[in-house]
Amino acid sequence: MKALITSGGRGTRLRPITHTQNKHLIPIANKPILHYALEAVREAGIIDVGIVYNADSEEVPQAIGDGSRWGLHITYIPQEAPLGLAHVVKISQDFIGDEPFVFYLGDNMVVGGIRRFLEEFTRLDTNCHLTLARVKDPERFGVPEIVNGRIVSVEEKPQHPKSPYAVAGIYFYDHHIFEAVNNLQPSARGELEISDAHQYLLDHGYIVTYSEITGWWKDTGKPIDLLEANRLVLENLEERIEGEVDEKSNLFGTVIVERGTRIVNSNLRGPLIIGEDTVVEDSYIGPFTSIYHHCYIRRSEIEYSIVLAHCRILDVHARIEGSLLGNDVEIVAAADKPLVHRFMLSDQSRVEVV
Ligand code: DAU
Repeated sequence: MKALITSGGRGTRLRPITHTQNKHLIPIANKPILHYALEAVREAGIIDVGIVYNADSEEVPQAIGDGSRWGLHITYIPQEAPLGLAHVVKISQDFIGDEPFVFYLGDNMVVGGIRRFLEEFTRLDTNCHLTLARVKDPERFGVPEIVNGRIVSVEEKPQHPKSPYAVAGIYFYDHHIFEAVNNLQPSARGELEISDAHQYLLDHGYIVTYSEITGWWKDTGKPIDLLEANRLVLENLEERIEGEVDEKSNLFGTVIVERGTRIVNSNLRGPLIIGEDTVVEDSYIGPFTSIYHHCYIRRSEIEYSIVLAHCRILDVHARIEGSLLGNDVEIVAAADKPLVHRFMLSDQSRVEVV
């Protein structure tokens, strides 16, 4: 059994953060999204992993390395352009060979791992085993039509979904998937669609089964998905204080303070995590917040947010909430008169003011 994990695509819905950072390396609870996928396949007993990455950037191979950190053996497979998920499978045929494999979209997160789905795939001995999650907005996903407990069709992002389920980005295949992806034509948006590959399998008499994901599952395509994934991961972490917390500070709920960090005269209401070598002074950090390494937060309030490395939030009087700050972002009080909002924003930034 092998695993194939995606880390390519363009991450357009997460701009401007993805102008300078691959979305799979954005930290959720201070750990890159892609690590969760790697941990899940390792936990399911898989060692041989292929990671498909954008051929024009070495960012992912450099950040992840050879996999020995997780006890994995990683092979990198470059993709010249994001031509679709079925294209990802197609270019990985040499790596996979004839073995069954799990195809795991590197921007998906699932609690409880994938072992149970792998066991079901093995037990049922089918050609393709899909994982389905009930969602409020199936039109954003691949959607199955289910009749008498069997999948009879799959459509990609349909205007009129035939069920309330999304096909989640964790798929199990035997080698017949290569017959499917090698016989597809690009869709209207110019991609080889994985849903079309599933439809091909159904049309050609192959057996497609499914498991329902009953816990939480997230496709971290949009900013709100990142905040929600962050909330859900933080809810399951355990308290850890490795930095310094002075006696004037108050900690409530599950709080993680990593090494080299100082908390001074501040109120921290978990669950939250504060990364390494960060200073929080005279501030309030509220639930579901992840602050990464080397940040400085002074006389400010922030909650339900993700703050990446080297950010400075100084003397900001309105509470920051539901926000996603990239690396090296500064939000500071205006120093001189006139008392105005003053912005220096990159392309596709977004600011909401009161
Ligand atoms: O998350 C589940 C959904 O994922 C499924 O329900 C859909 O059927 C499936 O098409 C896919 O939809 P998305 O629109 O969310 O796919 P996205 O373009 O975001 O790509 C998913 C992952 O694959 C992400 O890790 C980026 C990577 N990717 C994507 C493409 C198109 C590549 O590595 N190469 C590509 O060519």
